[in-house]
Amino acid sequence: MKRVITYGTYDLLHYGHIELLRRAREMGDYLIVALSSDEFNRIKDKKSYYNFEQRKVMLEAIRYVDLVIAEEGWGQKEKDVERFEVDTFVMGHDWEGEFDFLKDKCDVVYLKRTEGISTTQIKKELYGEDAN
Ligand code: CTP
Repeated sequence: MKRVITYGTYDLLHYGHIELLRRAREMGDYLIVALSSDEFNRIKDKKSYYNFEQRKVMLEAIRYVDLVIAEEGWGQKEKDVERFEVDTFVMGHDWEGEFDFLKDKCDVVYLKRTEGISTTQIKKELYGEDAN
């Protein structure tokens, strides 16, 4: 069984998220999503509209997602890769190069983002430039 892992906040779930998850799942047989906890979002200076439990329930309802775990801090990725015996670590290309340090443990792949959509953009269009 080939295991794939990816990380993110996945707030205001949108088409770009689904496309990322679909392509990540295609790279293996089992997709783990490490979802930013509300506390970790605070550390990253991000505030989600949906809380962790709500974001988790929505991700779990997606057919490409096999398991959702919490991401609580920056230093967790190496441990997750070992613990879940991950073969492939996947991120959107906005993180290109950032996680190459994992390459001695698993494959590291950066996927092209879907153009023209992001949670930040949705918030801006709904609430104006003040939206975070
Ligand atoms: N993603 C993508 N295409 C998009 C938006 C996001 O492939 N148009 C990917 C990201 O690269 C990441 C995952 O989806 O691997 C989760 O991204 P997240 O940061 O939660 O979503 P964004 O919409 O980018 O949110 P924000 O605008 O708050 O950064």
